[in-house]
Amino acid sequence: MLIQHSRGQYPVLERGVDSLFKDLPASSFVLTDQNVARALADWLPTLPTLVLEPGEQNKTLEGYGRCLRWLATVGATRKSTLIALGGGVIGDLGGFVASTYMRGIPFVQIPTSLLAQVDSSVGGKVGIDLDDGKNLVGAFYPPSEVRLSPDVLRRLPARQFANGMAEVWKYGAIMDAPLFAELAASRLTPQDPRLAAVVRRCIELKAQVVEADEFETTGLRAILNFGHTIGHAVETLTGYGPVMHGEAIAIGMVTEAKLGIRLGVTPPGIEKELIACFAGQGLPTTHPILQNGDAMISTMRKDKKAASGRLAFSLLTHIGGCKLIQGVNDDEVRAVLIEA
Ligand SMILES: NC(=O)c1ccc[n+]([C@@H]2O[C@H](COP(=O)([O-])OP(=O)(O)OC[C@H]3O[C@@H](n4cnc5c(N)ncnc54)[C@H](O)[C@@H]3O)[C@@H](O)[C@H]2O)c1
Ligand SMILES: [Zn+2]
Repeated sequence: MLIQHSRGQYPVLERGVDSLFKDLPASSFVLTDQNVARALADWLPTLPTLVLEPGEQNKTLEGYGRCLRWLATVGATRKSTLIALGGGVIGDLGGFVASTYMRGIPFVQIPTSLLAQVDSSVGGKVGIDLDDGKNLVGAFYPPSEVRLSPDVLRRLPARQFANGMAEVWKYGAIMDAPLFAELAASRLTPQDPRLAAVVRRCIELKAQVVEADEFETTGLRAILNFGHTIGHAVETLTGYGPVMHGEAIAIGMVTEAKLGIRLGVTPPGIEKELIACFAGQGLPTTHPILQNGDAMISTMRKDKKAASGRLAFSLLTHIGGCKLIQGVNDDEVRAVLIEA
């Protein structure tokens, strides 16, 4: 599959784990984390490698500085390539590092979590968090290539798998009713033979959106934020970690479905459907932090997606469709948060 962007295109290549690291550019430097290094120990290439502790705390100014200094110390040049080998944290951080080291060097995404394969590795958004909110610093910086192997997902811990499935459910809910129905009829597991096809489908759906709105200017790309306006606030207020990204957006999708129903955009009953699907996948559907309505709203307001101070949400119009609703009144949001 080829993803088009304003400066060219990049391939998404599916490989067996044995050939995942074949034919990388000559001067390559690998950024990864300890879990991934352990899981892929038998296949790792003999290249200069920085292995970070796992976790969102790497996506900070400190983590970013550490990677830049490492590249300089090990002698990476303008002709070098950075290989971001890991989940969305490594992909976002590695991409942002690559976008600025020596004014930009090529990078290859090798996503190893389900979430990174179906979402973060495609679309060119890279960046880091500030204490004030997630992804507040970043760039649109497409990789030169995305390589993935569905094989590596088969050994993902159950919680990580469910975490990625939250984004898969999201694609079904906002864009693809048959995908949603298929997942609802029979849960996907890491061993499921359908997994590779589902990953491919999600990448196709994301590619359709990001090719049509690369820089998030027309509002189309913002539909991908279903569950994320509330989900990001949950992640921020719980301190990035206890609630994983996919878990936070599962909570966000359910709560935003309730908001959509309240605003007359989403048909009643959809929130119950989502709750049943997510609970069956081992995902949370609510969290005590939602009760803290004022803190939630002020955190959402700091999120860069809040246009001119009013909150914006991607809300379901039905299973398989959604639209961006801007200027949502705080009182409506507070009401669904308090009810949660
Ligand atoms: N750029 C984008 O468009 C975009 C989209 C969605 C999410 N994101 C970002 O992605 C991040 C979340 O991604 P994530 O959930 O992949 O987080 P992550 O990178 O922290 O990975 C989750 C956990 O899985 C482990 N892991 C990854 N691959 C593994 C493997 N094959 N075997 C065993 N363990 C493995 C990691 O070590 C980590 O502990 C967030 O920072 C979010 O903001 C970015
Ligand atoms: Zn997400």
